[in-house]
Amino acid sequence: MYEAEISQRKTFAIISHPDAGKTTLTEKFLLFGGQIQTAGAVKSNKITKSAASDFMEIEKQRGISVATSVMTFPYKGKWENILDTPGHKDFAEDTYRTLTAVDSVILVIDCVKGVEEQTKRLMEVCRMRKTPVIVFVNKLDRDGKDPFDLLEEIEEILNIAAHPMSWPINGGRDFKGVYLIPNKSLNLFESNKTKKANDVVRVDGVNDPLLEGMVGEKNAKKLQEDIELIDGVYGELDLKSYLEADVAPVFFGSALNNFGIQELLDTFIEIAPNPLPRKTQDRDVAPTEDKFTGFIFKIHANLDPRHRDRIAFLRVCSGKFLRNKAYKHTRIDKSFRFANPYTFLADSKEIADAAFPGDVVGLYDTGNFKIGDTLTEGEILQFKGIPSFSPEIFKELINLDPMKSKQLEKGIQQLTDEGLANLFVQELGSRKFVGTVGELQFEVLQYRLEHEYQAKCRFDPRVIHKACWMTGPEADLKDFMKFRQQNIAYDKEGNPVFLAETAFILRSAIDKYPDITFHTTSELV
Ligand code: G4P
Repeated sequence: MYEAEISQRKTFAIISHPDAGKTTLTEKFLLFGGQIQTAGAVKSNKITKSAASDFMEIEKQRGISVATSVMTFPYKGKWENILDTPGHKDFAEDTYRTLTAVDSVILVIDCVKGVEEQTKRLMEVCRMRKTPVIVFVNKLDRDGKDPFDLLEEIEEILNIAAHPMSWPINGGRDFKGVYLIPNKSLNLFESNKTKKANDVVRVDGVNDPLLEGMVGEKNAKKLQEDIELIDGVYGELDLKSYLEADVAPVFFGSALNNFGIQELLDTFIEIAPNPLPRKTQDRDVAPTEDKFTGFIFKIHANLDPRHRDRIAFLRVCSGKFLRNKAYKHTRIDKSFRFANPYTFLADSKEIADAAFPGDVVGLYDTGNFKIGDTLTEGEILQFKGIPSFSPEIFKELINLDPMKSKQLEKGIQQLTDEGLANLFVQELGSRKFVGTVGELQFEVLQYRLEHEYQAKCRFDPRVIHKACWMTGPEADLKDFMKFRQQNIAYDKEGNPVFLAETAFILRSAIDKYPDITFHTTSELV
């Protein structure tokens, strides 16, 4: 059912290393979709390094990132849902989770810097999930790396075959434009930050005599050589390989100058997948199933810290989501109706009476949801594939006001439900360890515990190398947990986790218990 609605939707994320141009590209997409009239309307939800200890800034950023968490825009009769991902590396886990709710991604690379560290990590997640990727090489108006070298970097560092769809004629000050390989036409560069249309000039391939007049003899010759080489090596784009995430089509352009965006968007609309099936613990759920299912991939504290309600972001996986209809929250086996679910048009919110597969709905939540929770029309299902990675920084939570233990307990439980950090509780003495990917989370946690829950606390650093989830024969696990009792804690699902202090201790454990597998993500299958 709902095939027409499904075929109209694309749900995707734009990802990049900070500063490569994700925000600028998002803005240009909205401009093309007619959702905003001028550039500069989309606020970046970047948290800069200098703002790390500026709490007002964090508060402000939280507001901005609620507004820009999802942006829907119409384009050529289809609905595009862009899911925003935080650029700051301390929020990388949030990005990984958001990637579970998309069907494809556009990866932005800065042509000056090439493939950067965070691009690599994000791409690993895409590969793990087999998410189709289109690459946009940005900032061609700057002197960047050689495009052949960039293709090689993409292939080698990102471990995916690259397939050029357009090709730049020079770069930096001498940037002349791009040649669109599949349609054999030329897009001449003109620095322009707001104009929508590009000047695409039809040429009859690279050997068209007109070319010389447009880009100069030297450039025309170089382009002919490049394209001959590209045609010989790459041939036509194999759509199946793109959809299976084996090949990434690559576009070149300049987001700031609105250049190369149209081709990117048009190709994206044509080839990117519509809402895809999603895996649950028991079966795959097809988007065309008539019964509604969906899962929560992000939880956001509401703007007003005096009210502890939150916004849970639900990705609709199948069927039709309806306002005021009762749905089953499968983890706690309770029924919920939502009187004011909303969808997001550019940066404004609208009450949604209905939503379809691929759509994202914001649900008001008073503390009932955790990341990964599933809603259905009654069937017991649990969507899977939302990984919890081993944190990199661990600290122990110390209560500074014994009169407020209850508030602290509630606060830390709720804030870790939002996915802000991982909580591990030791059986012996119930010590609480909090693990994050960055320092910034501890500052946010402490601030929010104090301001929203009136609980005072401190985080003491602990030397923990990795948190490992374990699988293996029961007898071995039992024996190991007894042997390493001091280092065993439990995650929020009650799974035992080995908090290995050093790489050496972890290696000895692996050697001593060869039948136990130590996992650094909680996604065990
Ligand atoms: P991000 O979301 O990936 O972090 O990047 P963002 O779009 O904020 O872009 C980072 C910087 O790169 C911005 O400059 C932006 O204007 C610039 N930029 C984006 N696309 C291009 C491009 O095609 N060419 C050039 N030359 N620059 C580009 P900024 O100075 O950090 O911010 P702003 O003050 O301009 O907003």
